[in-house]
Amino acid sequence: MATQSLSLSLSHFFFLFFLTSLSPVSSQCKHPPIIFNFGDSNSDTGGLLAGLGFPVNPPYGRSFFRRSTGRLSDGRLLIDFLYQSLNASFLSPYLDSLSGSKFTNGANFAVVGSSTLPKFIPFSLNIQLMQFLHFKARTLELASSGEGSLINEEGFKKALYMIDIGQNDLADSFDKNMSYAQLTKRIPSIIIEIKNAVKSLYNQGGRKFWIHNTGPLGCLPQKLWLVQKGVLDQVGCLSVYNSAARLFNEALWHLCQELRTELEGAAIVYVDIYAIKYDLIANATKYGFSNPLMACCGFGGPPYNYNVRVTCGNPGHEVCAEGSRFISWDGIHFSEAANSIVASRVLSTAYSSPRTAFTFFCQD
Ligand SMILES: *[C@@H]1O[C@H](CO)[C@@H](O)[C@H](O)[C@H]1NC(C)=O
Ligand SMILES: *[C@@H]1O[C@H](CO)[C@@H](O)[C@H](O)[C@H]1NC(C)=O
Ligand SMILES: *[C@@H]1O[C@H](CO)[C@@H](O)[C@H](O)[C@H]1NC(C)=O
Repeated sequence: MATQSLSLSLSHFFFLFFLTSLSPVSSQCKHPPIIFNFGDSNSDTGGLLAGLGFPVNPPYGRSFFRRSTGRLSDGRLLIDFLYQSLNASFLSPYLDSLSGSKFTNGANFAVVGSSTLPKFIPFSLNIQLMQFLHFKARTLELASSGEGSLINEEGFKKALYMIDIGQNDLADSFDKNMSYAQLTKRIPSIIIEIKNAVKSLYNQGGRKFWIHNTGPLGCLPQKLWLVQKGVLDQVGCLSVYNSAARLFNEALWHLCQELRTELEGAAIVYVDIYAIKYDLIANATKYGFSNPLMACCGFGGPPYNYNVRVTCGNPGHEVCAEGSRFISWDGIHFSEAANSIVASRVLSTAYSSPRTAFTFFCQD
């Protein structure tokens, strides 16, 4: 046990060292970038593991961190790549008391499995927001009693507020056998939660927002395995799941329009993750992937290599040799290779409305 924890902390040290030595001192940002992120497993950098001790076993983490960090991928997530584009060190999970972080570059409130509703169940968007309000109040209190280096009022104003949530709300609705009509009726209440979150952050001084829409839910190997007789689109994804995702995205897009008029001086960037991911899956071979609808890590082999009873990281799972050939890592989450391409498309600005460089928030 002792040997194991020693080797873990040593590899952690070398990993940090490696990052630091890669990060140049010069930066386009006038101020060190500060980001607060809210969301689900798509952007959880270790919150579930730290918060609930929920084990995330190898081979999670195998291709980049070489240990499990609690991220649901074999390596980095989209948010990690976005962060690295700023030459910043990775964002610590708010719940991670052992990260050694003083949260001077922000905090990540995202936790695996989170949705917007129900509102008061950990770690819903509303609870993540309450945690942020506490974080901000406590940080300013500590700063006023002489703790240097912490984020100050100005820092909270200049920070970027990122939100990536909604996938689990949609997935839960399908799991509960809701009809498409019922789901359609539920979307406005999900959107209201996101609206409330942005408005509270705005009332707290936040002015810069970066909002990801939701990906093509019907292309996840897990859903394809679960729904055996569903109608498939030309790519082989579940039509009704993808329709629900697009409907949600349309509502989210309208919300962003509305908030831009309502919240004076706020910059709200909407990013079309759906289009990026769908293109990646539809044109998989062009991007160097071979089985766009099959998980690298799972059970059962083709077509989906997914089985809810033998999931990745649990006894009996099977894992592919070359994760970089797969878009889906575990049937639900993208591989590091896929996340890296998604990140480069996000950074291209072609999928953002309005077209905005990711560095926009740190230039003044
Ligand atoms: C990060 O570092 C690279 C290489 O030095 C530099 O070109 C780039 O402008 C930096 N990015 C930011 C956002 O500071
Ligand atoms: C949904 O329907 C399936 C198949 O008819 C059934 O097995 C499952 O128990 C239902 N789930 C709920 C939450 O009602
Ligand atoms: C696939 O790639 C082609 C050519 O670049 C493009 O026109 C098409 O829109 C892509 N498909 C999807 C679903 O994005």
